[in-house]
Amino acid sequence: MSTDLPASPCVRLRIHEAIAVLTLDNPPVNALGWAVRDGLLQGLRNAEAHPAVHALVIVGAGKAFIAGADIREFGQPPRDPWLPAVCNAIEACTKPVVAAIHGPALGGGLEIALACHARIAAPNAKLGLPEVQLGLLPGAGGTQRASRLIGAAAALDLMLSGRHVSAPEALRLGLIDHITTMAEDLSAHMQAEGIAWARHLLAERTPPRRTGEQAEALADRAANQAAIDAAKAQASKARGLFSPLQIVACVQDALDLPMAEGLIKERERFAACLASPQRAGLIHAFFSERGTAKVPEAQQGTPRPVQHVGVIGGGTMGAGIAVSLLDAGLRVTLIERDDTALQAGLGRIAKVYEGQVAKGKLSAEAQAEKLGRLSLATAYAALADADLVIEAVFEDLAVKQAVFAQLQAVCKPGAVLATNTSYLDIDAIAASTTRPQDVIGLHFFSPANIMKLLEIVVPAQVSPDVVATAFELAKRLKKVPVRAGVCDGFIGNRILAVYRTAADHMLEDGASPYDIDRMVKAFGFPMGPYEMSDLAGGDIGWATRKRRAATRDPKARYVQIADRLCERGWFGQKTGRGWYVYEAGSRQGQEDPEVLAIVEAERQRAGITPRAFSTDELERRYLAAMVNEAAKVVAEGIALRPLDVDVTLLYGYGFPRHKGGPLHHADQLGLARILADIRTFAEADPLFWRPAPLLEQLVAEGRQFADLNKI
Ligand code: 3HC
Ligand code: NAI
Repeated sequence: MSTDLPASPCVRLRIHEAIAVLTLDNPPVNALGWAVRDGLLQGLRNAEAHPAVHALVIVGAGKAFIAGADIREFGQPPRDPWLPAVCNAIEACTKPVVAAIHGPALGGGLEIALACHARIAAPNAKLGLPEVQLGLLPGAGGTQRASRLIGAAAALDLMLSGRHVSAPEALRLGLIDHITTMAEDLSAHMQAEGIAWARHLLAERTPPRRTGEQAEALADRAANQAAIDAAKAQASKARGLFSPLQIVACVQDALDLPMAEGLIKERERFAACLASPQRAGLIHAFFSERGTAKVPEAQQGTPRPVQHVGVIGGGTMGAGIAVSLLDAGLRVTLIERDDTALQAGLGRIAKVYEGQVAKGKLSAEAQAEKLGRLSLATAYAALADADLVIEAVFEDLAVKQAVFAQLQAVCKPGAVLATNTSYLDIDAIAASTTRPQDVIGLHFFSPANIMKLLEIVVPAQVSPDVVATAFELAKRLKKVPVRAGVCDGFIGNRILAVYRTAADHMLEDGASPYDIDRMVKAFGFPMGPYEMSDLAGGDIGWATRKRRAATRDPKARYVQIADRLCERGWFGQKTGRGWYVYEAGSRQGQEDPEVLAIVEAERQRAGITPRAFSTDELERRYLAAMVNEAAKVVAEGIALRPLDVDVTLLYGYGFPRHKGGPLHHADQLGLARILADIRTFAEADPLFWRPAPLLEQLVAEGRQFADLNKI
């Protein structure tokens, strides 16, 4: 017999012979919005007060237990009941409460589970406290309960990494008590398993086991203190992040203070994190990276099936792309110019897997299985049944057009023909074929098997189905796709070219390349532009500059310093010398007085008297150049929305995630200030510092880039 009691639209309460089941139903992931919190608390109180109920089970409907607090509510006015109150009420319940977990139990979702008196989980459960990735800390008792349940070291690891833990690991850690069997309808299965576990607790006459009262895991004070000290030292190194040190402080409180006091401190620290601009930046990044896949063509078009992919060119990019495709379970045919080049391409692919095997990250069987899906050929006929082909040959329009001519001759109708070009005009590549509707840009970033960004470059004549296929492929490759329009450099490289030019201007005017790199790293990028150039190889940019020389505006300022280094063969790490000098085998460069002498000689040649730059001015110019070009990219429709620029810079160029991306950051700084800077800089160089009309318009209307972020 089962009885229903009213709870709320998002929480069902049903009594199954003495066991009350509270089912959270808030698709898609049962986030703990107000209605869920309110329904859960009401349901808990009803069940606790009901004389026929002896134990409770909390379960999630659909594919998740609970993915955490509703992230959309952060920054909104708070609304009772708060999650901490709900968790405290669960823990205080006089009848045993069982959490029956399947799928994600993350953040506030795991905190609900930790407040329960027992936890069981399906084999597919993913448990974690990922708040740190949003600039937060577990703020509903999680820092206090996790520390008491599994000890400081394990709790800190979970909270500082934000990683998801599997059911077996959760069992080993002591986060859960039992792993259930798998089933088709997991929500219904976990309800039944939860009821069974509750009956088992009742049969054993186990009183509610309150996590907040557990003392064993923190009993060894010295060991726990050592874990906290180590985590504190580590967190202090995390490039200016706010919440990690707050998390460590909460765990210290768990060791030092009674539960009730620890909870109060946790609340204060959570509020401080919530108020931090880092929280706003990280949450902007969370929603933006999910927003970039929402493009018109992905809704209009139907993805074409893709199983077999051709890759033309097995160089740096082609090999990395092949690895990415093989990792996603696809069949790959690699085409090269001749057998020697083909073997070299295979060597590059095999080297990636050998490295993974050597590090124990890949088994020999898995390596063989992946390489077993790779075919090699020099004749294009091998691509006759390919569903999609990605060209990654030399960056030369004529070479690429010749490749596309061969592709249209051999590929089956409807095969998607993609180019990985960095800068070339994809409309021109498409127009040179008889199938422009099938031609698209898939711009991977180096190393292509590691970097998450994939610019999907949409030429004028491409069919929506092909765009939808590209977005679907990105999902399979676990990439973050961003839709870009055709222009020189698309979104990312076009903006990069401009802020790198701004850096070169400052360099010639008196700044040291090392000061510029230091400023950029202090801002939060992992590398400065000159270190980046040394890593990528100075020859790549040199080739691009030579290609553009004929079309460059003769009135535009051109800084030749990088050319002087390239003329000496100083291409960076691969030649042992570039902007920095590298000792044999080292990736750590040393500042080079000879480079500074070349810079000084170039200043003299250009008739420039060097002046000093403050770090503030370096940063303002660098960012203003980035934001100004980004505004042009948005206004021209090269990027659909500001958020597409933000995700491109976050995932392809190392823009610090906690600052949300250049246009989110610009909104925080104030667009009027940035425009005023640009106008000031324009007094000396009006051609370079032309304010973007969109920036002027937003400032005039008192609006922000965020206002244009319609998903
Ligand atoms: N709040 C609001 N919306 C959420 C959400 C959340 N916690 N988690 C996911 N969503 C939304 C996504 O934005 C997406 O919406 P869309 O379809 O409109 O784009 C939808 O749910 C599905 O999400 P995904 O596309 O990410 O689906 P996946 O199946 O790939 O992943 C997931 C599911 C693993 C749960 C992933 O969404 C995730 O990691 N979510 C965030 C988990 C998290 O960070 N929780 C902690 C929140 S902070 C907290 O709890 C504070 C507390 O301590 C007080
Ligand atoms: P690479 O020089 O390492 O590799 C090019 C490969 O293409 C060589 O192995 C060459 O033998 C092969 N090739 C040339 N012509 C061919 C043909 N007609 N048929 C078959 N194979 C042919 O160059 P890389 O760096 O891999 O670049 C390839 C493309 O990717 C270029 O368009 C480049 O702009 C683009 N790209 C490069 C990035 C980088 O960081 N290196 C990043 C993103 C895109």
